[in-house]
Amino acid sequence: MVELALPKNSRMQLGKTWPKPANATRLKEYQVYRWNPDDGRNPQIDTFYVDLDDCGPMILDGLLYIKNKIDPTLTFRRSCREGICGSCAMNIDGLNTLACTKGMDEVKGAIKIYPLPHMPVIKDLVPDLTNFYAQHRSIEPWLKTVSATPQIEWKQSREDREKLDGLYECILCASCSTSCPSYWWNGDRYLGPAVLLQAYRWLIDSRDEATGERLDNLEDPFRLYRCHTIMNCANTCPKGLNPAKAIAEIKKMMVERRV
Ligand code: SF4
Ligand code: FES
Repeated sequence: MVELALPKNSRMQLGKTWPKPANATRLKEYQVYRWNPDDGRNPQIDTFYVDLDDCGPMILDGLLYIKNKIDPTLTFRRSCREGICGSCAMNIDGLNTLACTKGMDEVKGAIKIYPLPHMPVIKDLVPDLTNFYAQHRSIEPWLKTVSATPQIEWKQSREDREKLDGLYECILCASCSTSCPSYWWNGDRYLGPAVLLQAYRWLIDSRDEATGERLDNLEDPFRLYRCHTIMNCANTCPKGLNPAKAIAEIKKMMVERRV
């Protein structure tokens, strides 16, 4: 398991312990990072108790229980609750992952939840992903062509389509980038594992006709070459992807085009 640092504004103070639900016999303890930009206080860890007989089995279910029945001000992102939208990524039990696909029974003892590490926090468990999305935009994540547009569709062989396996499944949850020490220290200039995996997804797409331009866009001491193969990205990815491998493939393409 990868132990991760606390968020940037982590001058923690003792938080509130909320009362246990009345008559509940099976309880799960949640220790949740709280920070409200409007109250002028330092971040704190609040303790809640979830009634397991009145709640679904996933960690997101417990957060929804807390929000609906204990403290409606608890703030977090979620949408699909199916591991598809990527919005419920947070640091759970020391590992960045999706709250909707991780079961409460996978965590022994109290469940400790923080926002994704080393990102500015907007409120509670919501990180500010503005820079992350701008970096994604910068790699122009769409098909770029110069040939005349075909009447029906851009065709791709089965073999070429298979080259996208292990890449297209990325849901841009940012778990990998925010687990990467290189991204923590150089996140303003290093694109990070998630965005570089996306960059490789377009570089390797047989239909795309902007490979040289895309490589030029990455040829920079910081944007690509701050990856030091630490591998936190592959260890944490909730979809089982390997961004470090994609980054290594981009570096190989850079070398190959020079010979
Ligand atoms: S590679 Fe995995 S961890 Fe990184 S953004 Fe994509 S789905 Fe999330
Ligand atoms: S709510 Fe969509 S991935 Fe968890």
